[in-house]
Amino acid sequence: MLTISFIPLALVAASYAAPVAHLANRPTCGTLTVGDLGGLPLPKNALSYVLLGVGTKTILVRMLVHLRALVELFDVSCISNSPDFAQLPSDTLDLWTKASPSTSVADAVRSKVDISRPFGEHYFITNSSGTGIDPVWDATSGAFAGNNQAFFLGTVAAQVQAPTGSNDVNWLYLTNVTGSLAAEVYRIQTRGGQPSASCTPGQDGTVKFTTLYYLTGGDLPAQGRNNAQESRPC
Ligand SMILES: *[C@@H]1O[C@H](CO)[C@@H](O)[C@H](O)[C@H]1NC(C)=O
Ligand SMILES: *[C@@H]1O[C@H](CO)[C@@H](O)[C@H](O)[C@H]1NC(C)=O
Repeated sequence: MLTISFIPLALVAASYAAPVAHLANRPTCGTLTVGDLGGLPLPKNALSYVLLGVGTKTILVRMLVHLRALVELFDVSCISNSPDFAQLPSDTLDLWTKASPSTSVADAVRSKVDISRPFGEHYFITNSSGTGIDPVWDATSGAFAGNNQAFFLGTVAAQVQAPTGSNDVNWLYLTNVTGSLAAEVYRIQTRGGQPSASCTPGQDGTVKFTTLYYLTGGDLPAQGRNNAQESRPC
């Protein structure tokens, strides 16, 4: 109820009628736009969120190189049109790289993003046949706390090498398999994250990285969206 009282009546009405259009023109943020997609497919839905991902990949070198990742997600939609936004992935990787081992992701990047209400986390889960992993973006205990559909489990539909260089992980385009958080996810403007070329069996390690995720679409109820909107760093 508190949330609703901040939202003009016309907007509430519009959000029921056309949730995607409403998201694309959120009053506090203006229209979200995405720049260089590096040749990935164009989005089929309106952009709904711009997230900064900051995390660590654990590299387990056995017969093959296995990657595990836990990435903290911060909603940067409202600052994504600002002139210095292009620096955010590099700036936050720098802060995260220099942070001591005991420093949390949030504490490392607190000078650059609003960490007071994190959006969620990105991680991998074992897939339904138990032989592979599926990527998940999970806002069920973050921006959409209590909504168990507020996640995106996707499949990689396209990828390209990062135009920024070989130290940066590939740019990805994923489409929804289950969940209501988004229809598509782009991982672009990656910084870091590639395992060292010289890794040898037995030498496990961690690599810090940052990236932007652009989400499109989504079918979450209006109430959930309003909560999320309130949590934005505007
Ligand atoms: C799980 O992942 C493995 C390895 O990538 C793949 O071969 C298999 O088809 C996947 N199963 C499902 C149900 O997606
Ligand atoms: C994601 O996929 C599931 C299963 O196909 C579907 O029910 C849901 O509506 C999709 N969500 C979005 C946001 O596209």
